[in-house]
Amino acid sequence: MSTDAFRALPGNGSPLRVLVVGAGAMGRAWLRAVESSPDVELAGVVDLDPLVARAAADGAGAPGVPAGADLAVLVHDTAPDAVVNVTVPAAHLPVTLGALGLGLPVLGEKPAAATLPEALCLIAAAELSGQLFMVSQSRRYHPELAAFKERARRLGALGILTTEFFKAPHFGGFRETMEHPLLLDMAIHPFDTARHLLDADPVSVYCQEYNPSWSWYAGDAATTAVFEMTGGTRYLYNGSWCSPGLETSWNGAWRVSGARGSARWNGDDPPETEETAETAEEGTADAVGDRGGAAPVASWGEGIEGSLAEFTHALRTGTVPMGEIHDNVLSLAMVASAVLSARTDRRVRVDDVLATAHAEALGLAGGEVRDVLASWTSAAGGA
Ligand SMILES: NC(=O)c1ccc[n+]([C@@H]2O[C@H](COP(=O)([O-])OP(=O)(O)OC[C@H]3O[C@@H](n4cnc5c(N)ncnc54)[C@H](O)[C@@H]3O)[C@@H](O)[C@H]2O)c1
Repeated sequence: MSTDAFRALPGNGSPLRVLVVGAGAMGRAWLRAVESSPDVELAGVVDLDPLVARAAADGAGAPGVPAGADLAVLVHDTAPDAVVNVTVPAAHLPVTLGALGLGLPVLGEKPAAATLPEALCLIAAAELSGQLFMVSQSRRYHPELAAFKERARRLGALGILTTEFFKAPHFGGFRETMEHPLLLDMAIHPFDTARHLLDADPVSVYCQEYNPSWSWYAGDAATTAVFEMTGGTRYLYNGSWCSPGLETSWNGAWRVSGARGSARWNGDDPPETEETAETAEEGTADAVGDRGGAAPVASWGEGIEGSLAEFTHALRTGTVPMGEIHDNVLSLAMVASAVLSARTDRRVRVDDVLATAHAEALGLAGGEVRDVLASWTSAAGGA
């Protein structure tokens, strides 16, 4: 894979006009984010169901804004600057392919695509179009996560990062019937956060999945995974979606251990740190506690408002944002590798998973997208 350069849209002072595609639960949250942002303006709303699209536009306080079921028609009628793809994962490939093919940059909900081969096709399509494709990993945009990362940076070499995630939601619907519900629908958030915290990428993983006897999910709702990250740090994820009582936050509970101490974050509140200070005379280590304090505020704002702000800034300036697809695909590769490890009960290397996905992507893609995929010397080369 080659560069992550993309075509910028230097501003003339007017807001970026975005077409929101997918008007379900999360689509309506995005419409609120668009409405409250000074950087963007709603150009139109698309959904498979045109009545849903119309109702969402009206509900977002934009009754005059065009709405309909056909992306190409709405692009033609509204001439947007960018597309926000908030469809279901299975539709991420066709919608993002369609938007890139129409010459538009895309901000997509996680995951980049339903599968790793599909995500590789989207990288190739972004390269072909010269447009930005950024995946919104909204949990990166949290002021206390920024503070936790800052604390971790002060701990010297980092050896161990852990997440504990224990919740007991009764969603109903697809999550209770699908395979790998926790890994596929939720774990990409902490996996992506781990890469962000460590500034490291996954090398290999060993993962077990299981379903506690009382689980109300058909698929395995509990997972334990050990990732080796670049630099040798281990990232341990221990999670369950069927653990009532003493639940963690939705961000999970985090702990990082480094050469000079440890830090932890409950996923909501300011992180705490205990650093060791070598006492020169005695050669012993004293514990120096530090609970909370001045947290650096994340510069983009919180959640999807933050990723929308970074997306518009990236387009205006040409600065590569967090979540740019060449980088983001490695978070999806962590999920795919963990699923394969759990299925085969062995440690798997992420490069091998990417190479297999690349071969499968060549079988999926056609035309010039396939030509771009075929030109890559290695599936992991540009990721
Ligand atoms: N970042 C987060 O914390 C977070 C939270 C929830 C959901 N999500 C993500 O947001 C996305 C949407 O989730 P949701 O809960 O809103 O789903 P949803 O099922 O409520 O809504 C999806 C909408 O997309 C529409 N749609 C499907 N295929 C389409 C197509 N080809 N063209 C146009 N519209 C299409 C459907 O008609 C539906 O209205 C998913 O990728 C999900 O993983 C992220």
